Amino acid sequence: MSRKLIIAANWKMNKGPAETEAFLEKFLAAAADLTDQADLIIAPNNLSIPTASALINDVNPSVGLAAQTVSENDNGAFTGETSTDMLKELFVNYVIIGHSERRSIYGETNAQINAKLKKALAADITPLFCIGETLAEREGGQLETVLGSQIKEGLEGISDISNVVIAYEPVWAIGTGVTATAEQAQDTHKFCRSVIEDLYGADAAAAVRIQYGGSVKGANSAELLGQPDIDGALVGGAALEADSFLELIRNAVA
Ligand code: PGA
Repeated sequence: MSRKLIIAANWKMNKGPAETEAFLEKFLAAAADLTDQADLIIAPNNLSIPTASALINDVNPSVGLAAQTVSENDNGAFTGETSTDMLKELFVNYVIIGHSERRSIYGETNAQINAKLKKALAADITPLFCIGETLAEREGGQLETVLGSQIKEGLEGISDISNVVIAYEPVWAIGTGVTATAEQAQDTHKFCRSVIEDLYGADAAAAVRIQYGGSVKGANSAELLGQPDIDGALVGGAALEADSFLELIRNAVA
């Protein structure tokens, strides 16, 4: 089964509307000949989503637009939160859920992530469902237990994963410049796919796209994304400049 590459820029708390516009003016035109080969997604800060939405719709609607998180609630007294309806109104079609920064800094649990995944799927917004182990967990032999429970608890009660993308991001490789080796990443992706196979069967496991994240850049994107079970990337630092993000994408699709 061939799976289309899916490469997403997670800008985190960077770029207000003006910087978003400057990036996208450069990026969207250049990305025109790349969207056939890979699904490309930009995840700006919420305040920059209206600017990004307008530009994407004008210039290149095949580029996806993601939020970096979403509320598990519909609306009401949830200060600071954003609902799926609000994202839909701005044509947001993806959302990052369970990023390790949300888990570690804001205390998001597998149960909360599960509720957010259900909310996104109900709104027909594709979740980029993040999982990943810390260095201590990997070194302590906990890799498979941790990832297995993140996947199982995150997907609990979700019967159809055809609209779910998984993003495997080893916490120790995020923003550190330390990348998992292609072999480590491939082995772990293969393990994650086997967990999906246990839960959903062979066809679903063969179809699900699993992105790798953690210090992906132009110099390593071809090798990482060339692995049989790595279907894309979730990119932080190297996606902050249009040129370096384009280089990373071009190397991966070449
Ligand atoms: P990084 O971030 O590419 O800067 O390591 C990846 C991420 O957090 O999604």
